[in-house]
Amino acid sequence: MLAVTFAAYGEPSVLQLTTMPEPHAGPGQVRIRVRTAGVNPIDWKVRGGYLRDIFPTQFPAIPGAEAAGVVDEVGEGMEGVNVGDEVFGLGSGTYAELAVLHQFARKPAALTWEQAGGVAVAAETALRALEILHTAAGQTLLIDGAAGGVGSAAARFALAEGVTVIGTASEANHAYLRDLGVVPTTYGPGLPARVAGLAPNGVDVAFDTAGKGSLKELIEITGSADRVVTIANFAAAEHGVRLTTEPHAFHALPRAARLVEEGRYDVAVDSVFPLADAARAHERSEGGHVSGKIILAVADA
Ligand SMILES: NC(=O)c1ccc[n+]([C@@H]2O[C@H](COP(=O)([O-])OP(=O)(O)OC[C@H]3O[C@@H](n4cnc5c(N)ncnc54)[C@H](OP(=O)(O)O)[C@@H]3O)[C@@H](O)[C@H]2O)c1
Repeated sequence: MLAVTFAAYGEPSVLQLTTMPEPHAGPGQVRIRVRTAGVNPIDWKVRGGYLRDIFPTQFPAIPGAEAAGVVDEVGEGMEGVNVGDEVFGLGSGTYAELAVLHQFARKPAALTWEQAGGVAVAAETALRALEILHTAAGQTLLIDGAAGGVGSAAARFALAEGVTVIGTASEANHAYLRDLGVVPTTYGPGLPARVAGLAPNGVDVAFDTAGKGSLKELIEITGSADRVVTIANFAAAEHGVRLTTEPHAFHALPRAARLVEEGRYDVAVDSVFPLADAARAHERSEGGHVSGKIILAVADA
């Protein structure tokens, strides 16, 4: 099968389109013929060797943690899923024609393949963070970094739950946030004063998706380190803030699918690249200013 691989850590140019052996679905897994794969920051962090102590890589490696496609092999012990089903989910080595998923849900008809490939990582991460924060209808949530993949997903889940959402983004993404139903503001110095102007009754909880050093301000805004969670600031413990890194909120996948069917969840596609252009997709992700998800169109490779 065709796959994007890298044989050493390095710049995006280490990514090459090559032929690799086909993977097979193990117990509790399915293999899909990949239509689209989502590009996530962890993909280039692994490729660049920045996470080599946490995720040691065996070369050649195929990047990619999520995809959407058509089931073509069902692993042992799997019920309720059949060859031919259209699904999206979490897996490994998804920048390829065939990939194994270990968590998945049925693709809602209302999502295009391009949207479906970018649902799983953002939805799981976002719902995990919101559940740690115990968000509830009537509350006000501040998302620092609301225009990215995870920030947008958190906004969708929270808004669907009846939470008011204030989100930070660069000016270029404020219209995108308004379309989502998020009250936009800029990030950086002076955030507490700007947020106070937008939420006179205060902010209940805050979610840092960006990891750019705003935790002190987020604690000031919410009044307590217990009301803040981060997915990207590895100095969180110094502030008494919880950092969450282990995926476990897999119920986010069927929940996102159900909300899509109800018209209460959508996926914005930042950009689509052919599989052969994975290096350009990584460059865009590393640039750090997306609105929504970067997608690889694999079936067209
Ligand atoms: N711990 C976990 O389990 C977990 C899971 C998934 C992701 N992550 C990590 O979480 C981070 C976000 O992931 P993602 O997929 O949402 O990334 P993404 O889609 O690339 O989005 C990044 C967003 O950050 C915003 N941003 C850039 N500089 C900022 C700043 N100084 N302050 C606030 N926001 C800023 C950008 O908005 P503008 O364009 O408007 O500047 C952009 O939309 C990454 O570091 C990723 O590795 C962690």
